[in-house]
Amino acid sequence: MDKITIPEHIAIIMDGNGRWAKKRGLPRVKGHYEGAKGVRGIVESCSDIGVKYLTLYAFSTENWKRPKAEIWALMALLKRFLKAELKTMMKNDIRFKTIGDIKKLPSDVRAEIKSVTKKTALNRGLTFILALNYGSRPEIVKAARAIAKECVEGKINPSSIDESVFEKHLDTCDIPDPDLLIRTSGEMRISNFLLWQLSYSEFYITDVLWPDFDKKELKKAVREYSKRERRFGETRKKAVKE
Ligand code: IPE
Ligand code: IPE
Ligand code: MG
Repeated sequence: MDKITIPEHIAIIMDGNGRWAKKRGLPRVKGHYEGAKGVRGIVESCSDIGVKYLTLYAFSTENWKRPKAEIWALMALLKRFLKAELKTMMKNDIRFKTIGDIKKLPSDVRAEIKSVTKKTALNRGLTFILALNYGSRPEIVKAARAIAKECVEGKINPSSIDESVFEKHLDTCDIPDPDLLIRTSGEMRISNFLLWQLSYSEFYITDVLWPDFDKKELKKAVREYSKRERRFGETRKKAVKE
């Protein structure tokens, strides 16, 4: 078998919890519960195969439009998840981070995020990033505002603004762009996720619903990624010889 190329950064839009529950005649919240349960296996698997960064889209800026009861159930699950996973993260040398505006999250959830972030800050294995109250457009607007402020204050010159200056003002400033984007449940859209950062990522969309997306499915996605030829605008490697 050909050698497998492991992506340095995998980003996942974890979608389909509601459909998973509906198929079984269960409340949507049960789907979220099962979905959260599966996260540990995916994180461990990424850590085992040598992925350096894993970003999971857990709550979008648009998800506040959902019924209040569902939102609070998601927040409660998040808090429980963080409490339960700290031990595994320490054991596996995993560093935890978030992107998105966490100020809008309930204070107990925020406290848990801060505690896990701090306790895992010096770990050197996989960086595990949760996108919470994350939207790519607000992230880009925030960056533009911060840069404008620095210009007004005379700290930077407008003519010196380039892609690297811009990137430094995004939530993902110290994280490389995703190599592989996975979306579960078959939807062909990115739903306001990492618009800037996904410019040259490989997309893998599967019909598998998030609670059913296990280690085997992850390996399938990585194998598929491995077969892709990333060209970044250049001529095909094979074509050069033609
Ligand atoms: C993904 O599952 C979880 C979140 C967006 C928080 P959904 O809840 O979107 O599931 P579907 O898309 O309704 O099946
Ligand atoms: C994207 O899923 C957000 C997360 C997975 C957190 P959604 O279910 O909210 O996306 P849309 O509404 O189908 O685009
Ligand atoms: Mg959905």
